[in-house]
Amino acid sequence: MKNLKSICICLIVTMASVSTIYAQKKFQLPQLGYAYDALEPNIDSETMQIHHSKHHQGYVNNLNKALEGTGAENLSLEEILKNTSKYATAVRNNAGGHFNHSLFWSILTPNKGTQPSRQLLQAINQQFGSLDNLKTSLNNAAASRFGSGWAWLSVDENDKLFISSTANQDNPLMDISEEQGIPILGIDVWEHAYYLKYQNKRGDYLSAIWEIINWDEVSKRYEQAK
Ligand SMILES: [Fe+2]
Repeated sequence: MKNLKSICICLIVTMASVSTIYAQKKFQLPQLGYAYDALEPNIDSETMQIHHSKHHQGYVNNLNKALEGTGAENLSLEEILKNTSKYATAVRNNAGGHFNHSLFWSILTPNKGTQPSRQLLQAINQQFGSLDNLKTSLNNAAASRFGSGWAWLSVDENDKLFISSTANQDNPLMDISEEQGIPILGIDVWEHAYYLKYQNKRGDYLSAIWEIINWDEVSKRYEQAK
């Protein structure tokens, strides 16, 4: 009887451990590196709170649900994105939503005044003429995205920078993307990213966001992407 009790306890502990390991493999909402109100006045606290805790959490929840039973539950987000064409639309939308927002939070900072690294600035100057030209071109891509989507600065297979825009939650990592590469800076132009403060004035949001771009993080991603 004592042995049976020990076996039962052992089984319960094992099942709990397996379930914990399984749960840990599921995608999770990343913590922000700053408070919701830290990006004020450029991005307001309420927008940040809803955007992160509701919208991004929704993509994470829906991605985990969409992956159930597909055999892709244990793949990395990057592996899933590179094979987007193999999966259902729900995986495409929510894997994109999770990746895009995780990148977005990381390339924003309350520390105004960060600058591109020497290497990144050199590449920007060579390809776009100046940092201001890059900002104008990215803002044009973002402003002209009809409906919801993203504007990107990415690195292509020849280590060249390029600007592009994608609809919905697509991104340049996806195999279905027209222009493919590794995104190092992404600007969310869904209305949920700016509407509470800027309403229909997407251009004002795009002007304000450059002050809070984390160029240290973008530079790090540039080095990793090459
Ligand atoms: Fe968003």
